Order: sequence, then C-alpha cells, then structure tokens
Amino acid sequence: MTFYVSTPIYYVNARPHLGHAYTTIVADVVRRFQSMRDSQTYFLTGTDEHGDKVVQAAQKQGVSPRVYVDQISRLFRDLWPELNVRPDRFIRTTDSDHMAVVTEVLRKIHAAGDIYFSEYEGLYCFGCERFYAERELQEGRCPIHESEPELIRESNYFFRMSRYQGWLIDHLQSHPDFIRPERYRNEVLAFLREPLGDLCISRPKTRLTWGIPLPFDEAYVTYVWFDALLNYVSALGYPDGELFHRFWPAAQHIVAKDILKPHGIYWPCMLKAAGIPVYRHLNVHGYWNIEQRKMSKSLGNVIEPLEMRNVYGLDAFRYFLIREMTFGLDANFSESAMVQRINADLANDLGNLFSRVLSMTHKYFDGAVPELDPEVGRQYGLGLGPDARRTVDEYERAMEAFELHKALAAVWEFIGRMNRAIDIAAPWELAKKPATRKQLEAVIHSLLKGLRLISGLIYPVMPDTAARMQTHLGLDPEALYYALRDLRLWKPVPSGTRLPKTVMLFPRIEAAGEPAGASPAPPAAERGPETKPEATLEDFQRIDLRVATVLSAEPVPKAKKLLKLEVDLGERRTIVSGIAAHYTPEALVGRQVVIIANLRPVKLMGVVSQGMLLTAESEDGPVLILPEKPVAPGSGLR
Ligand code: MSP
Repeated sequence: MTFYVSTPIYYVNARPHLGHAYTTIVADVVRRFQSMRDSQTYFLTGTDEHGDKVVQAAQKQGVSPRVYVDQISRLFRDLWPELNVRPDRFIRTTDSDHMAVVTEVLRKIHAAGDIYFSEYEGLYCFGCERFYAERELQEGRCPIHESEPELIRESNYFFRMSRYQGWLIDHLQSHPDFIRPERYRNEVLAFLREPLGDLCISRPKTRLTWGIPLPFDEAYVTYVWFDALLNYVSALGYPDGELFHRFWPAAQHIVAKDILKPHGIYWPCMLKAAGIPVYRHLNVHGYWNIEQRKMSKSLGNVIEPLEMRNVYGLDAFRYFLIREMTFGLDANFSESAMVQRINADLANDLGNLFSRVLSMTHKYFDGAVPELDPEVGRQYGLGLGPDARRTVDEYERAMEAFELHKALAAVWEFIGRMNRAIDIAAPWELAKKPATRKQLEAVIHSLLKGLRLISGLIYPVMPDTAARMQTHLGLDPEALYYALRDLRLWKPVPSGTRLPKTVMLFPRIEAAGEPAGASPAPPAAERGPETKPEATLEDFQRIDLRVATVLSAEPVPKAKKLLKLEVDLGERRTIVSGIAAHYTPEALVGRQVVIIANLRPVKLMGVVSQGMLLTAESEDGPVLILPEKPVAPGSGLR
C-alpha cells in the first residue's frame, strides 16, 4: 500500500504559528499511522513564495523578495523537526524543478485550448490573492480578511474552468468521500449550483514581476494559486518521476476551510484539464480560535508553537491539538484547556496507570515480568482481550477517516477500562496471600500487555512517549513495536523481561502555564498585544479623522449587525456601521462620534457607506470613541 500526504504550502509573509503547526502535525500523525500499517509513505510540505503578498512583506522589511523568501522559508523548514515532524520533501515554489513543471502544465493546457485572453473587471482581495464574486462577500468585505476588496480592471489570461463544472459535480457525487468531512463536500456542491466562472491565471508584469513567466506571453506572470497548487505534483517529479507514478494515485491533501475553494474546485479542474488523475481525498479541518477570538497579529494573540512546546512538552502539545479539535470543526485554544487535558488525560489517566502497573511489577515481582500459566490466565486474567480488539478496530477506522480525535478517545476509553480493572482486581489484596499468587501474576501480566498495546497506539501522536513507555516495558524502541498487525495480536511483554525503575510520564501542572518545578511563564494571552509596524507622521496624516454629529440612525433591513447613520461633518454623509448589536438608533442620535472621512466608499447591503465610525475593541464588542466635550462638526483630529 502507498500513502501520499500533503499540507498546504504556507505563505512566507508571516512566521509559522499554531495554525500551520496543527495542519503539519496532523499530516505527521496520519503518515506515522500509515507506516504502522506497513504502507510506503510520502509526506510533503513547503512554502508558497510568489505573489503580491510576499512582495509587499519584503518591501516592508526593506529587502528583496529573494532575500526575504529565503529567510522566512527557513523558519518553516527548521521548525518541523523541532515538533518531531519529518517531511520527505520541503518544497518551495521558487525551486527550479517546480517552476519547470508549472511552465510545462501551462503550455499543455494552453495548447489544448483551455486558456484564453480577455479583459476582466472584478473585486480583488490582496490578502487572498483572488477575485471575489459579490455574493461571496460579507457586508462588502472579504470574509477571511474582513477588508474591502479593490475593483481591478485588466487584460489577462483565463483558464476555462467552467468547462469542467459538470464533470466535477459528477465526480463529487460518485465519490462521496472525495472531500471530507461531508459539510465541506456540501459546501463545494452548493457553490457548484451556480455557474462556475473561468479562472484568471495571470498577472501583468506591470503590476507584479515576482512570479513564474507565462510560457506563451512574457508580459505576464502566473497567478500564485495556479503556481502553488501544482506543487503537489511537481514535488513528485511529474510527469515521468518514479515518485509520481508510485505516490500520486494515493494522494491525500490536508487543508483548513479557508482554502477549500482552490483545493476543492480549481485544483480538480486543473488536474482534469492537464490530463492528470485527480487526488483521492481532500481532508478539511476547521480553524483554531484563541480564547474564543480569531488568532491575529493585531490582537496580539498569535500562538508560537515552540513556546508551547517549551512550556508544556512536545508530546503533550501534540496530544492536545489532536484530541481537542474535532477534525472539520473550529476549536478553541487556551492554555487553561491544555493544562486541564494534560492533567486529566496524560498525568492522571495514562501517567498513573503506567506508574501504578510498573511499580506493582517492581514491588511484587522484583521488576521481572511474571510467568503466566495459560490456564490461570484464562481464569483470572482481566478479560481485556475483546476490549483491546474493539479498541484497535475503532482506532484504525477513525484514523483512516481522519477522525483523529475519535481514535484518541478510543485509546483513552481503553485506558479507563484498565484503571477500573485494577480497582476491581485489587492486586494489593491478592499480594497478601500466597494462595492468590497465580492470580496476581495473571493480573499484572494482562496489565503489562495492555500497556504494550497503548504504547503502540499512541505512537503517531506521541512518538517520544511511545518510545519511553516501550523502553520501560523492557522492549527495544528501535525495533518498532508499532505495527498494527502485531498490536492486533495482543502480544504480552515476554515473561522474565526485567523492567527498569518506573518513571513519571507526565508531571501534573499545578497552575495555568506553570509546570510543577519549572519557572512560570506568563500565559500567551497576558503578554499584551503586539504593536503594528512603525508608521510615520505622514502615514497618520493621510487618514482624515473628523468629529461628526449623528443626525439620524436606523437599522439596515435584513442586516442584523448594521445601522445606517446620517451624520453632519460640515456636510451630510451616510455611514453604515456594524454596531447594531451594541447600540440602538436612539442612543446615537445627537451624539458626536469620530469617523474616518476619507475611506474609499463601500456598498454594504445596498447602501453606500461614506466613512467609518471609530470604535475600541472590547470583550463586550465595539465601544464608540467620543470627544470629551462638544466641538464643531467636521473638526479634525491630531
Ligand atoms: N499559500 C496558501 C496555500 C497554498 S497550497 C497550494 C495559503 N497559505 S497560508 O500560509 O495562509 O496557510 C493557510 C493554512 O494554514 C490553512 O489552510 C491551515 O492549514 C493553516 N492555518 C492557518 N491559520 C489557521 C488557524 N487559525 N487554524 C487552523 N489552521 C490554520 O493559504
């Protein structure tokens, strides 16, 4: 069997954070799981280095795009081994073999007549590097970046994506798990109910030079998404590479919901047009929020993976990420939730079980795994066998289906079952009488067997802990007792094996962010917001801030959050503001507020808004910024 897994290739306009770490750890987990089944595996990650965003980020730092991309790409590449993640290839879209494949595929699709030249006008989000249809916007803004897209008109090359709409719908219908979980398949199908437009795949060099030139027109570079998606085949040496032939038929991508459309629509259509078979599964997960809020630089709540590893330990961090997020849904990250899980699941359930069983082996058998008389075993064993089998079955099913949280839940159910079995069997009572010696042997023997199984099943998520457990069970961790085939056989730890003195797998953490015995680090949320990059006085003066008096206010029909205000700032203006959940129209009329008067007008639910109200962000929502005493309408700010 073969298995090929990819993460998105990450933009190099920001440092790696929790979100990137999650997806990449998931890829590592599923690849380790597949290797437990003796699959040949290939794991790809990398960086996406062309496009406007990168050029802008480089400019901000005052360096060339080339220097900039090398710098940030290295941060990603160097991070993964620190998280025990070892991809087979770290691809960069600036790699020459990748660029050659992009050129080749463009030529092929162009020659087949699926690329044409035309003029286009549309709303473009620079954050997403793509055009948006009006219906995809929320209150006129990009749903991801919450910024207003810009109207752009230019001549460009287009990929005839519309031609593949019918085929894609059929494919989604005949392959119900092509995109999973189902909610995302439904989302794509819903999108495909409307006519699918063609895809603009070029950018004029007059606007952007940092990209791969189109082979049929030197005046243009390739649109970043068309370039980036092809990394999944270029990495394998498409079209002739041995890796491509071996692994492409087993391709599975992992992405978050933010990039469902390029992966669920553009990419299959591109593959079809290029005559490449489509991938097998697209696995889509939700977003991590931080303490119930979006993770963002401006909120200063960006979580650094290495910091979490350093404070809580790598395996505990990996465990938390995989256990806490229901794959497919959004999840909430907080250090207190992590501490809770570490204490309950790792220190209590698993850690206690492990040290209890090992210390009893030392106490009653001098650290040597007892002999087992099979007859006595049948009679006095703990009856864990059928549970073990069920656990492995559910674990394998869930891992295969990318329900990673459920795979762990199944293992923890088994851990619970073992802890209860100890309490019922009460080995300390059996140890009191020589008559129950054989029974005691059977009980300890079964418990060690159970630990051996657990050490194998946790391997994909907690590889270091798995190895530690196996060392302490007297097994050779180099020999990999992780093969699912063997785990199913429910093998004992060989009798007579001498076990090293017991260890504490996971110390309890006493308070949030404060592991016992270590120096306390402040929780990330308390470190205060990161400030924005330095701005000059000129930057500030370009923003026209003015005091305005609210003349009237009314709700905007069918928009729960919006109020339409008429204001006086020397002239009359209409402003639409998203404060309806926090201010009634009556509370606003007659008040003086502060507005940005020179913001480009934007249409929100059919109303043109000619400015923006200033509010402070608070836990309870937006709070208006007001002058301390009345001033003439239109007064400027400084
Ligand atoms: N460069 C494109 C992808 C091209 S793939 C051919 C891109 N890059 S990105 O840097 O923005 O990465 C997006 C991905 O990062 C998400 O799909 C997800 O894998 C991960 N995450 C970023 N923030 C995240 C969260 N807050 N939560 C979970 N994952 C998130 O898009």
